[in-house]
Amino acid sequence: MIVLGIESSCDETGIALYDTNHGLLAHALHSQIRMHAEYGGVVPELASRDHIRRVLPLTESVLRDAGLALGDINAIAYTQGPGLSGALLVGTSVAEALAFTLNIPTIGVHHLEGHLLAPLLEENPPAFPFVALLVSGGHTQLMRVSGIGEYELLGDTLDDAAGEAFDKTAKLLGLEYPGGPAVSRLAELGKPGNYKLPRPMLNSGNLDFSFSGLKTAVLTAVTASAMDDAAKADIAYAFQEAVVDVLTAKCVAALNQTGLERLIVSGGVGANKRLRESLNRAAGKNRFEVSYPRLEFCTDNGAMIAFAGAMRLKNNRQGNHAFTVRPRWDLAELTAP
Ligand code: KG4
Ligand code: ZN
Repeated sequence: MIVLGIESSCDETGIALYDTNHGLLAHALHSQIRMHAEYGGVVPELASRDHIRRVLPLTESVLRDAGLALGDINAIAYTQGPGLSGALLVGTSVAEALAFTLNIPTIGVHHLEGHLLAPLLEENPPAFPFVALLVSGGHTQLMRVSGIGEYELLGDTLDDAAGEAFDKTAKLLGLEYPGGPAVSRLAELGKPGNYKLPRPMLNSGNLDFSFSGLKTAVLTAVTASAMDDAAKADIAYAFQEAVVDVLTAKCVAALNQTGLERLIVSGGVGANKRLRESLNRAAGKNRFEVSYPRLEFCTDNGAMIAFAGAMRLKNNRQGNHAFTVRPRWDLAELTAP
Protein backbone atom coordinates (compact mmCIF):
# COMPACT_ATOMS: atom_id res chain seq x y z
CA MET A 1 0.00 0.00 0.00
CA ILE A 2 1.37 3.40 -1.00
CA VAL A 3 0.30 6.26 1.26
CA LEU A 4 0.63 9.94 0.43
CA GLY A 5 1.24 11.99 3.60
CA ILE A 6 0.32 15.67 3.89
CA GLU A 7 1.47 17.82 6.83
CA SER A 8 0.21 21.41 7.03
CA SER A 9 -0.51 22.04 10.72
CA CYS A 10 1.77 25.01 11.26
CA ASP A 11 4.59 26.63 9.28
CA GLU A 12 5.90 23.72 7.24
CA THR A 13 4.33 22.03 4.23
CA GLY A 14 5.55 18.44 4.26
CA ILE A 15 4.64 15.82 1.66
CA ALA A 16 5.82 12.20 1.49
CA LEU A 17 5.13 8.83 -0.05
CA TYR A 18 5.39 5.79 2.23
CA ASP A 19 5.14 2.23 0.92
CA THR A 20 4.18 -0.40 3.52
CA ASN A 21 6.41 -2.91 1.66
CA HIS A 22 9.38 -0.75 0.74
CA GLY A 23 9.40 2.04 3.32
CA LEU A 24 9.77 5.73 2.61
CA LEU A 25 9.84 6.40 -1.15
CA ALA A 26 10.18 10.18 -1.28
CA HIS A 27 9.61 13.26 0.82
CA ALA A 28 9.72 17.02 0.34
CA LEU A 29 9.35 19.99 2.62
CA HIS A 30 8.79 23.69 2.28
CA SER A 31 9.54 25.69 5.40
CA GLN A 32 7.86 29.07 5.89
CA ILE A 33 10.37 30.10 8.56
CA ARG A 34 11.82 32.96 6.50
CA MET A 35 8.37 34.30 5.68
CA HIS A 36 7.34 34.44 9.37
CA ALA A 37 10.74 35.52 10.72
CA GLU A 38 10.12 39.24 10.23
CA TYR A 39 7.03 38.98 12.49
CA GLY A 40 8.92 37.04 15.20
CA GLY A 41 6.46 34.12 15.04
CA VAL A 42 3.95 32.30 12.86
CA VAL A 43 1.19 34.47 11.28
CA PRO A 44 -1.70 32.00 10.80
CA GLU A 45 -3.30 33.62 7.74
CA LEU A 46 0.03 33.82 5.90
CA ALA A 47 0.71 30.20 6.84
CA SER A 48 -2.58 28.96 5.30
CA ARG A 49 -2.03 30.91 2.09
CA ASP A 50 1.46 29.56 1.69
CA HIS A 51 0.33 25.95 2.26
CA ILE A 52 -2.15 26.44 -0.60
CA ARG A 53 0.71 27.50 -2.87
CA ARG A 54 2.94 24.55 -1.90
CA VAL A 55 0.87 21.39 -1.46
CA LEU A 56 0.28 20.43 -5.09
CA PRO A 57 3.75 21.32 -6.48
CA LEU A 58 5.36 19.35 -3.62
CA THR A 59 3.03 16.41 -4.30
CA GLU A 60 4.05 16.45 -7.96
CA SER A 61 7.68 16.60 -6.89
CA VAL A 62 7.53 13.53 -4.57
CA LEU A 63 5.63 11.57 -7.24
CA ARG A 64 8.37 12.46 -9.75
CA ASP A 65 11.11 11.48 -7.28
CA ALA A 66 9.44 8.13 -6.61
CA GLY A 67 8.75 7.53 -10.32
CA LEU A 68 5.03 7.20 -9.60
CA ALA A 69 1.78 8.72 -10.87
CA LEU A 70 -1.23 9.93 -8.86
CA GLY A 71 -3.05 6.72 -9.78
CA ASP A 72 -0.43 4.65 -7.91
CA ILE A 73 -1.42 6.12 -4.54
CA ASN A 74 -3.62 3.79 -2.46
CA ALA A 75 -4.50 6.10 0.45
CA ILE A 76 -3.93 9.64 1.71
CA ALA A 77 -2.96 10.54 5.28
CA TYR A 78 -3.18 14.16 6.36
CA THR A 79 -2.65 16.02 9.63
CA GLN A 80 -6.11 16.52 11.11
CA GLY A 81 -4.88 18.31 14.25
CA PRO A 82 -3.79 19.76 16.53
CA GLY A 83 -2.59 22.94 14.85
CA LEU A 84 -3.77 26.15 13.18
CA SER A 85 -7.27 25.60 11.80
CA GLY A 86 -6.75 27.43 8.52
CA ALA A 87 -3.48 25.64 7.89
CA LEU A 88 -4.98 22.25 8.77
CA LEU A 89 -7.93 22.90 6.44
CA VAL A 90 -5.57 23.23 3.47
CA GLY A 91 -4.14 19.74 3.94
CA THR A 92 -7.54 18.27 4.73
CA SER A 93 -9.22 19.81 1.67
CA VAL A 94 -6.50 18.74 -0.73
CA ALA A 95 -6.44 15.23 0.74
CA GLU A 96 -10.21 14.81 0.52
CA ALA A 97 -10.46 16.27 -2.98
CA LEU A 98 -7.65 14.08 -4.34
CA ALA A 99 -9.02 10.99 -2.58
CA PHE A 100 -12.48 11.66 -3.99
CA THR A 101 -11.21 11.81 -7.56
CA LEU A 102 -8.94 8.77 -7.06
CA ASN A 103 -11.61 6.85 -5.12
CA ILE A 104 -9.20 5.93 -2.31
CA PRO A 105 -9.46 6.21 1.51
CA THR A 106 -8.16 9.06 3.61
CA ILE A 107 -7.07 9.03 7.20
CA GLY A 108 -6.78 12.05 9.51
CA VAL A 109 -3.60 11.75 11.57
CA HIS A 110 -2.85 13.25 14.98
CA HIS A 111 0.23 15.46 14.52
CA LEU A 112 1.81 14.26 17.78
CA GLU A 113 1.28 10.62 16.88
CA GLY A 114 3.25 11.45 13.74
CA HIS A 115 6.10 12.89 15.83
CA LEU A 116 5.90 9.98 18.27
CA LEU A 117 6.26 7.35 15.56
CA ALA A 118 8.93 9.19 13.51
CA PRO A 119 11.85 7.20 15.03
CA LEU A 120 10.23 4.04 13.62
CA LEU A 121 11.00 5.30 10.09
CA GLU A 122 14.69 4.59 10.71
CA GLU A 123 16.56 1.31 10.25
CA ASN A 124 16.31 -1.20 13.12
CA PRO A 125 13.30 0.54 14.66
CA PRO A 126 12.74 -0.05 18.39
CA ALA A 127 10.08 -2.62 19.28
CA PHE A 128 7.05 -1.79 21.45
CA PRO A 129 6.75 -1.15 24.34
CA PHE A 130 8.96 1.89 24.94
CA VAL A 131 9.04 5.20 26.76
CA ALA A 132 8.66 8.22 24.48
CA LEU A 133 9.87 11.73 25.22
CA LEU A 134 7.96 14.12 23.01
CA VAL A 135 9.63 17.52 23.07
CA SER A 136 8.31 20.07 20.60
CA GLY A 137 7.34 23.72 20.49
CA GLY A 138 3.98 22.98 22.08
CA HIS A 139 4.54 19.79 24.08
CA THR A 140 6.84 18.20 26.63
CA GLN A 141 5.45 14.80 27.48
CA LEU A 142 6.67 11.43 28.64
CA MET A 143 4.58 8.49 27.52
CA ARG A 144 4.48 4.75 27.82
CA VAL A 145 3.88 3.50 24.27
CA SER A 146 2.65 -0.09 24.06
CA GLY A 147 1.55 -0.05 20.40
CA ILE A 148 -0.02 2.20 17.77
CA GLY A 149 -2.66 4.27 19.59
CA GLU A 150 -1.73 2.83 22.99
CA TYR A 151 -0.30 5.86 24.74
CA GLU A 152 -0.25 6.31 28.48
CA LEU A 153 0.74 9.77 29.66
CA LEU A 154 3.40 9.54 32.38
CA GLY A 155 4.36 13.19 32.72
CA ASP A 156 3.61 16.55 31.16
CA THR A 157 4.68 20.15 31.43
CA LEU A 158 2.71 22.24 33.90
CA ASP A 159 3.38 25.43 31.91
CA ASP A 160 5.73 26.13 28.98
CA ALA A 161 6.95 23.40 26.64
CA ALA A 162 10.72 22.87 26.32
CA GLY A 163 10.72 24.22 22.73
CA GLU A 164 8.72 27.25 23.85
CA ALA A 165 11.35 27.91 26.56
CA PHE A 166 14.06 27.76 23.88
CA ASP A 167 12.05 30.18 21.71
CA LYS A 168 11.43 32.64 24.57
CA THR A 169 15.07 32.49 25.70
CA ALA A 170 16.12 33.22 22.12
CA LYS A 171 13.90 36.31 22.11
CA LEU A 172 15.41 37.52 25.41
CA LEU A 173 18.89 37.08 23.93
CA GLY A 174 17.92 38.90 20.73
CA LEU A 175 18.21 35.81 18.53
CA GLU A 176 16.08 34.98 15.52
CA TYR A 177 12.96 32.79 15.37
CA PRO A 178 12.74 29.81 15.75
CA GLY A 179 14.88 29.98 18.84
CA GLY A 180 15.90 26.37 19.46
CA PRO A 181 18.61 26.04 16.82
CA ALA A 182 19.82 29.63 17.44
CA VAL A 183 20.19 29.17 21.23
CA SER A 184 21.90 25.84 20.68
CA ARG A 185 24.41 27.36 18.21
CA LEU A 186 25.17 30.25 20.59
CA ALA A 187 25.53 27.84 23.53
CA GLU A 188 28.45 26.19 21.75
CA LEU A 189 30.41 29.42 22.27
CA GLY A 190 29.41 29.70 25.94
CA LYS A 191 31.45 28.80 28.99
CA PRO A 192 30.23 26.97 32.09
CA GLY A 193 30.25 28.49 35.57
CA ASN A 194 29.29 32.10 34.87
CA TYR A 195 25.52 31.68 35.32
CA LYS A 196 23.70 29.29 37.58
CA LEU A 197 20.16 28.57 36.43
CA PRO A 198 17.58 26.40 38.25
CA ARG A 199 16.64 22.82 37.26
CA PRO A 200 12.85 23.14 37.72
CA MET A 201 11.12 20.09 39.21
CA LEU A 202 14.25 17.98 38.99
CA ASN A 203 13.46 16.47 42.37
CA SER A 204 9.66 16.71 42.22
CA GLY A 205 9.28 12.96 42.64
CA ASN A 206 7.04 12.72 39.58
CA LEU A 207 7.54 12.90 35.81
CA ASP A 208 6.10 16.38 35.25
CA PHE A 209 8.04 19.37 33.96
CA SER A 210 7.93 23.13 34.36
CA PHE A 211 9.94 25.56 32.24
CA SER A 212 8.40 28.98 32.84
CA GLY A 213 10.56 29.61 35.97
CA LEU A 214 13.66 28.88 33.92
CA LYS A 215 12.60 31.50 31.38
CA THR A 216 12.09 33.99 34.22
CA ALA A 217 15.57 33.15 35.57
CA VAL A 218 16.99 33.92 32.10
CA LEU A 219 15.09 37.22 32.07
CA THR A 220 16.51 38.11 35.48
CA ALA A 221 20.05 37.25 34.36
CA VAL A 222 19.67 39.25 31.13
CA THR A 223 18.39 42.38 32.90
CA ALA A 224 20.84 42.18 35.83
CA SER A 225 23.94 43.15 33.90
CA ALA A 226 25.11 44.54 30.56
CA MET A 227 24.97 41.83 27.94
CA ASP A 228 27.93 41.49 25.61
CA ASP A 229 28.20 38.60 23.15
CA ALA A 230 30.20 36.46 25.58
CA ALA A 231 27.64 36.91 28.36
CA LYS A 232 24.79 35.99 25.99
CA ALA A 233 26.64 32.84 24.96
CA ASP A 234 27.21 31.92 28.62
CA ILE A 235 23.49 32.33 29.36
CA ALA A 236 22.55 30.24 26.30
CA TYR A 237 24.96 27.57 27.56
CA ALA A 238 23.55 27.61 31.11
CA PHE A 239 19.97 27.54 29.83
CA GLN A 240 20.57 24.60 27.51
CA GLU A 241 22.37 22.64 30.25
CA ALA A 242 19.44 23.21 32.64
CA VAL A 243 16.86 21.96 30.11
CA VAL A 244 19.01 18.99 29.09
CA ASP A 245 19.65 17.99 32.72
CA VAL A 246 15.95 17.99 33.57
CA LEU A 247 14.90 16.15 30.40
CA THR A 248 17.60 13.51 30.88
CA ALA A 249 16.81 12.91 34.56
CA LYS A 250 13.08 12.56 33.89
CA CYS A 251 13.67 10.11 31.02
CA VAL A 252 15.80 7.92 33.30
CA ALA A 253 13.12 8.16 36.02
CA ALA A 254 10.39 7.20 33.51
CA LEU A 255 12.39 4.13 32.42
CA ASN A 256 12.91 3.13 36.05
CA GLN A 257 9.25 3.65 36.91
CA THR A 258 7.95 1.60 33.95
CA GLY A 259 10.71 -1.00 34.02
CA LEU A 260 11.19 -0.47 30.27
CA GLU A 261 14.59 -0.47 28.58
CA ARG A 262 13.90 1.49 25.42
CA LEU A 263 13.50 5.23 25.00
CA ILE A 264 12.57 7.15 21.88
CA VAL A 265 12.88 10.91 21.55
CA SER A 266 10.91 12.96 19.07
CA GLY A 267 9.80 16.50 18.27
CA GLY A 268 11.80 19.59 17.36
CA VAL A 269 13.87 19.73 20.57
CA GLY A 270 14.87 16.12 19.87
CA ALA A 271 17.21 17.60 17.25
CA ASN A 272 19.24 19.26 20.02
CA LYS A 273 22.82 18.00 19.97
CA ARG A 274 23.49 18.41 23.68
CA LEU A 275 20.27 16.59 24.57
CA ARG A 276 21.31 13.66 22.37
CA GLU A 277 24.80 13.58 23.90
CA SER A 278 23.36 13.61 27.40
CA LEU A 279 20.77 10.89 26.69
CA ASN A 280 23.36 8.72 24.93
CA ARG A 281 25.61 9.00 27.98
CA ALA A 282 22.72 8.13 30.32
CA ALA A 283 21.82 5.17 28.08
CA GLY A 284 25.34 3.77 28.42
CA LYS A 285 25.35 4.27 32.17
CA ASN A 286 21.83 3.01 32.88
CA ARG A 287 21.77 0.32 30.18
CA PHE A 288 18.85 1.37 28.03
CA GLU A 289 18.50 1.83 24.28
CA VAL A 290 17.70 5.23 22.86
CA SER A 291 16.47 6.04 19.34
CA TYR A 292 15.87 9.30 17.54
CA PRO A 293 14.45 10.26 14.18
CA ARG A 294 16.97 11.58 11.66
CA LEU A 295 17.41 15.33 12.27
CA GLU A 296 15.11 16.47 9.45
CA PHE A 297 12.27 14.29 10.83
CA CYS A 298 12.48 15.78 14.34
CA THR A 299 10.71 18.91 13.17
CA ASP A 300 7.47 18.87 11.17
CA ASN A 301 7.49 16.73 8.02
CA GLY A 302 5.24 14.72 5.74
CA ALA A 303 7.05 11.39 6.24
CA MET A 304 5.86 10.98 9.83
CA ILE A 305 2.25 11.66 8.76
CA ALA A 306 2.43 9.18 5.85
CA PHE A 307 3.93 6.60 8.22
CA ALA A 308 1.43 7.08 11.08
CA GLY A 309 -1.41 6.97 8.53
CA ALA A 310 -0.04 3.77 7.00
CA MET A 311 0.21 2.12 10.43
CA ARG A 312 -3.43 2.98 11.16
CA LEU A 313 -4.69 1.94 7.72
CA LYS A 314 -3.03 -1.47 8.09
CA ASN A 315 -5.74 -2.39 10.55
CA ASN A 316 -8.54 -0.30 9.10
CA ARG A 317 -8.45 -0.04 5.33
CA GLN A 318 -11.63 1.99 5.27
CA GLY A 319 -10.06 5.27 6.29
CA ASN A 320 -12.46 7.89 7.59
CA HIS A 321 -13.14 10.67 5.03
CA ALA A 322 -13.72 12.90 8.02
CA PHE A 323 -13.21 16.29 6.33
CA THR A 324 -12.94 17.96 9.71
CA VAL A 325 -9.98 19.51 11.42
CA ARG A 326 -9.25 19.29 15.14
CA PRO A 327 -7.17 22.34 16.09
CA ARG A 328 -7.23 21.14 19.73
CA TRP A 329 -6.86 17.41 20.13
CA ASP A 330 -5.46 15.50 23.08
CA LEU A 331 -3.20 12.58 22.17
CA ALA A 332 -4.71 10.59 25.05
CA GLU A 333 -8.02 10.50 23.12
CA LEU A 334 -6.52 8.18 20.50
CA THR A 335 -7.30 4.48 20.58
CA ALA A 336 -5.65 1.56 18.82
CA PRO A 337 -6.73 1.23 15.14
O1 KG4 B 1 8.14 19.59 16.56
P1 KG4 B 1 8.28 20.98 16.06
O2 KG4 B 1 8.81 21.20 14.69
O3 KG4 B 1 6.94 21.76 16.09
C1 KG4 B 1 5.88 21.53 16.94
O4 KG4 B 1 5.06 20.64 16.63
O5 KG4 B 1 5.89 22.25 17.98
O6 KG4 B 1 9.19 21.72 17.15
C2 KG4 B 1 9.56 23.05 17.01
C3 KG4 B 1 10.29 23.44 18.27
C4 KG4 B 1 10.61 24.94 18.34
O7 KG4 B 1 10.28 25.40 19.63
C5 KG4 B 1 12.12 25.00 18.10
O8 KG4 B 1 12.72 26.10 18.72
C6 KG4 B 1 12.57 23.69 18.70
O9 KG4 B 1 11.56 22.75 18.36
N1 KG4 B 1 13.85 23.22 18.16
C7 KG4 B 1 14.97 23.06 18.90
C8 KG4 B 1 16.00 22.65 18.00
N2 KG4 B 1 15.46 22.56 16.75
C9 KG4 B 1 14.15 22.91 16.87
N3 KG4 B 1 15.20 23.24 20.20
C10 KG4 B 1 16.44 23.00 20.67
N4 KG4 B 1 17.48 22.62 19.89
C11 KG4 B 1 17.30 22.43 18.56
N5 KG4 B 1 18.34 22.05 17.79
ZN1 ZN C 1 5.31 19.34 15.24
